[in-house]
Order: sequence, then structure tokens, then C-alpha cells
Amino acid sequence: MDKLIITGNAKLSGDVEISCAKNAYLPILAGVILNKKNIHLKNLPELRDIRTMKKLLEMLGVKTNVSGDTTTFDSSGMNSFEATYDLVKTMRASIFVLGPLLARHKEAKVSLPGGCAIGTRPIDLHLTNLEKLGAEIKMEGGYVHAKTTGLVGANIVLAFPSVGATENLMMAATLASGQTVIDNAALEPEIGDLGNFLNAMGAKVSGLGTKTLTIDGVKELHEVEYEAIGDRIEAGTYLMAALATNSELVIKKANPGHLEFVIEKLKEMGGQIEVRGEEIFVRPSDLRGTKIDTAPFPGFPTDLQAQMMALLTQVNGNSLISENIFENRFMHVPELQRLGAQITLKANSAFVEGGFPLKAAPIMCTDLRASAALVIAALCAEGETHVQRVYHLDRGYEKLDQKLLRMGVQIKRVNED
Ligand code: UD1
Repeated sequence: MDKLIITGNAKLSGDVEISCAKNAYLPILAGVILNKKNIHLKNLPELRDIRTMKKLLEMLGVKTNVSGDTTTFDSSGMNSFEATYDLVKTMRASIFVLGPLLARHKEAKVSLPGGCAIGTRPIDLHLTNLEKLGAEIKMEGGYVHAKTTGLVGANIVLAFPSVGATENLMMAATLASGQTVIDNAALEPEIGDLGNFLNAMGAKVSGLGTKTLTIDGVKELHEVEYEAIGDRIEAGTYLMAALATNSELVIKKANPGHLEFVIEKLKEMGGQIEVRGEEIFVRPSDLRGTKIDTAPFPGFPTDLQAQMMALLTQVNGNSLISENIFENRFMHVPELQRLGAQITLKANSAFVEGGFPLKAAPIMCTDLRASAALVIAALCAEGETHVQRVYHLDRGYEKLDQKLLRMGVQIKRVNED
């Protein structure tokens, strides 16, 4: 197991280039199953979750080949419809293969993902709505076993705009016969990206960027080359790291439009932030406290809540954060407190007293975004902070230590075994 040793009172400088979005590429990789022709994906980030999804595809019989920055997927010889517990248990997003497998093979057996550190995360919206498209679903021995005589388009209204359910249903509907309408669909940019990818290979998805998606089923798809959008959560993380350390930084390939709410909020707090095209310029800023409510897109993303909390420990005045998407997403709080942060938790809210200096201490990553918050706090703390269990971080931040090193941070990765 690796840990990061970060020297605090750090300043970031120069620029950082954002990688392609993990949360865009995970459903796109599941979408490979829909297409018997070759799919060429560019700049897949080197991340544990991406490797897990590739491994899952390979277990299903998909052939992969890497050449330069392009990975080619050939699913013409795919022979399995079963996603086993060993892989699914390590990554919830494995459930994305359910819709595509059902569409391609008329049968799918996918292990139930179970709970995860940040909450119970049920998949009822995926299952009940796949049933509306004509799937028969049984739970057997910890697996979702779905069969269909052929998926047929239907009108679906999501009870909650779940990102994953919207994606699973879009993919299933792509090869269904007739038209599917998904109402109250999630609006996250990764949905638009999946839609663009599906359309680039011949699907007929319209209404992208709105709450109502219409998918006219097609019989087959054609060869495609595609590159996913930049990772808005990675960009937001470096933006907050720069502000927390009073640094001057340019964030490149960031898709600032996907961070509009966050940038406006940070500006409202006094953040010196300027957007020029695809680049975000951050300058040292005198920030004050604020109120944050996580919400589905275009609201404040739950995936940036932990990083924002780390930043709020460094601003003038107090802040209140309410987490409205996941029920157990404050696991970074005890770790931030170990560094001296003054945070009080009550139900789904955290009261953060700003302006208390942080001091180095050994701390432990508990989940992906919590880990990013700990890195931001470690950058601010006085002394050398040892951040343990960075495998969580490696699920979603490509080359984080190398990128920070390039920005002038003293950081090293050591193996603890
Ligand atoms: C995706 C993101 C994750 C992000 C989340 C919310 C990926 C791989 N992951 O996760 O990083 O934090 O969106 O922006 O893209 N829910 C149900 N029933 C369901 C599905 C979801 O009750 O069938 C609930 C969940 O428990 C949660 C809420 O809906 O409380 C949001 O979940 P959802 O939007 O589905 O998130 P994910 O797709 O799992």
C-alpha cells in the first residue's frame, strides 16, 4: 500500500493539464458492449477504475489493444454476459454493463454492487426502469439476473435524476426497438458526453443537455473514434487546492462551463478566478465563508464537497455545508480534525470554522473524493503530512503526485509494505 508524504505550507505554480473524465469514460467503456465494430478511445486516463472496467470487458470477451494514446476495443467475439462479484465489488460503476449486456445478448448476470463507504447506493432506479423496457429481473445469489425476449422502447420517468440509471437506460434503449423517452434524466455533463459518444457510432439520442432524453432504437452501430470530456471534478479539485494555498495557477483543458456553479460560488467568496476559453486562471485570494448545498447538476457537485470543506477550513469566517446526495459522505471530517480543522457535524450538515491553522499529522484516505480533500489540507498544513491508503486516490486522480510535483509541491509516494 502506498502513502503520500506532502510538505505543507505549499504553493502551487505554473499550470496543470486536466485528464479525460473518469466518470465520462466509465459508462462509455460499458457502451463498448453495444457495438460489434471497433471502438477507438483516446487518452483513457491511467486510473484504477478505468483498469477495472477494461478488465471487466476483457472477461466478457472484448479484445483490447493499446497504440499510442488510443485504446481499441473489439467486442465482435464477445461470449459472456456475466460480470462477477470479484470485479463488481471493487467498483460500483460495473453496474453500467447491465443495460448494454441486456441489449446485446438479451441476458445479463451482474453481481449486486452492495453498499459503499459513502452510502447504501441502491440500484432500484436502474432495475425498475429496465423492466419497463422489457427486462425480466430476478435476484439470485447476490446477482442481478436479467433476461428479455427483446428490449422495447418505453416512456420512463425517473423518480430521482440518477446519473448511473440515466446512463444505463440510455445504453439499453440504444438497441431497443422503437422509441424511449427518459424524463427527469440527470443533467450531468457526463450524460451529454455519453450521448455524443453513442450518436458518434450511429445511435439516435436527442434532448442532450435537457431533462428529457429521446432515444430512437437502432439495429446496429458503426466503428468510431472518440475522446471524452475533461474531468470537471479533477479541475475543481486543483482550483480549490490553488485557492486554499493562496497560489497562482492556470488550469488547462478544464471545460470551465461544466464548473460554472462552482466558479461562481468561489468568486462570490472573493476568489480571483478568470476563465479564458478552456483555461481557468486562479490568483491568490482573500476568501470568506459561505453556505454550500450539494445538488444534482447544475448545482454544487457532491464530488467536490470534501475538497470544498478542506478549502473552507482556510478562509475567513464560518461556513455551512449540507450534503444532500449521499447519506454518509463526511468521512473526511475526522481526518481533517486530526490536522486541527474545526468542524462540527450535525445530521447531513457540517459547520466549518475558518482560519484555524492546520498542522501535519498521519491521516488516512477513506474514499476517493475524501482523499482529495486530505491532500488539499496537507498542502496547507505546517509540516510533513503522511497520507495513507492512497489507493482510493488512484481510483480517480491521474498522476496526482506527478502533477503536484510539476506544480512545485514537495510530495513523494512511498510503499508502506
Ligand atoms: C455518479 C458518479 C459519482 C457521483 C454521483 C452523483 C459515476 C461513475 N459516479 O454516481 O461520482 O457522486 O453520480 O453526482 O459517474 N440512487 C437510488 N437508486 C438508484 C440510483 C441512485 O436511490 O437506483 C440514489 C443514490 O443512492 C444517491 C443518489 O441517488 O443517493 C445519486 O446517485 P446517482 O446519481 O445514481 O450516482 P451514481 O451514478 O452512483
